[in-house]
Amino acid sequence: MSFSIERYKEESKKLDTTGIDWQAVTASPLSKGDLFCLHYMMDIENHVPLYLSHLLVTRACMDPILTAFLACWNYEELWHGENLGKLLNLYGIEFDAQDRIANVRANLGFQNSVSLLSTMVGSWLLKDFSAVYLTIGAINELSTLTGYAALIRKSGHPVLKDLLNRIIKDERRHYAFYFNSAKEWLAGNEKAQRVDRWMLDRFWVPVGQGVKTQEQVDALALYLFDDEQGEEDLLTLDEKIGKLPGLAGIELMSKALYTARERRRQNPDWAWRLIDNEEWAVAPPKKSPIGELTTRRTPVEAEMGVLEGT
Ligand SMILES: [Fe+2]
Ligand SMILES: [Fe+2]
Repeated sequence: MSFSIERYKEESKKLDTTGIDWQAVTASPLSKGDLFCLHYMMDIENHVPLYLSHLLVTRACMDPILTAFLACWNYEELWHGENLGKLLNLYGIEFDAQDRIANVRANLGFQNSVSLLSTMVGSWLLKDFSAVYLTIGAINELSTLTGYAALIRKSGHPVLKDLLNRIIKDERRHYAFYFNSAKEWLAGNEKAQRVDRWMLDRFWVPVGQGVKTQEQVDALALYLFDDEQGEEDLLTLDEKIGKLPGLAGIELMSKALYTARERRRQNPDWAWRLIDNEEWAVAPPKKSPIGELTTRRTPVEAEMGVLEGT
C-alpha cells in the first residue's frame, strides 16, 4: 500500500456524487438500525474539524507533509458528512444540519477542552506521541471504511451503497496515509513502539466514542458486526493494524465487539433499546440556544443591527 502526498494534493477533491440516483432514496427502506448507524456516522464525519483542532496543537504539525494532508483530508471529510445528511433528509428525516452539528458540539461541554489540553501537553512532553495518533488515525480510517462496508451489507439499500462506496474510496486513501506515516515513525524506533502499544492498550477507544456514549458505540458495533462476517471483518482489521512495527497481535476492534457483547449479556436491553426507541436525535444542550453557541445572530437580529447602525 503506497501513498504519495504530491499525488494526493493534486487529486484531493470534494466527493463526486455525479450520477447518484438521489430520487430513488425513498424507493427502498432503511431499518431502524441502518438509520441509527447513519446518524452516528454523519455526526462523526461532521466532527472532523474539532478532531483536527486536536491534531493541530501537537508538535507533529511542524511537519509540512502532515499539515498538507490534513488540509485536504478535512475538506474531503466535510463532504462525507454533508452527503450522509443529504441522504437522510431525502429519505424524509427532517433536521437542520447546522443546528445538529452545533448541538453535538455543545453537548461535548468541558470534556473537549480537557482533551485538547491533554493532547497538547502530551505531544510536547513526549516526542513519540505522534506515533500514537498516527496509528489512531489509521485505525479510525480503517474502522470507518469497514463500518461503511458493513452498512452496505446490512442495509442492502442501492443508493446508500453507491454513496458509501464512493466515500470508502476516500477513506482508503486516508488510511494509506496514516498507516504509512505511522509505519515510518515506528520502524526501527523501539521506544515509539513501546509508547504506541502502551497507549493503545490503555486509552484507545473506537471512532466516535467521546462524542457518542458507550451505549451508542456498542449499538453501532452490535448492529454492524455481531455476526460471523462482521466478527471476521474486525479480526482482519486488527490483523492489518498488527502489521505496524511493535503492534503484532494487538486486539482493538475485535475486543470492542466482545466487550459490547458482554455488556449486552449483563443487560439484554443494552444498546438495542437505543435503536428500537429511535434515539438518533440529538437533544439540544440545556440553557444554550444555538445563537449563543455559535455567536451567530439570527437574520432578524442582524437586520436590526444594520438599521440601528450598530
Ligand atoms: Fe469520512
Ligand atoms: Fe477519512
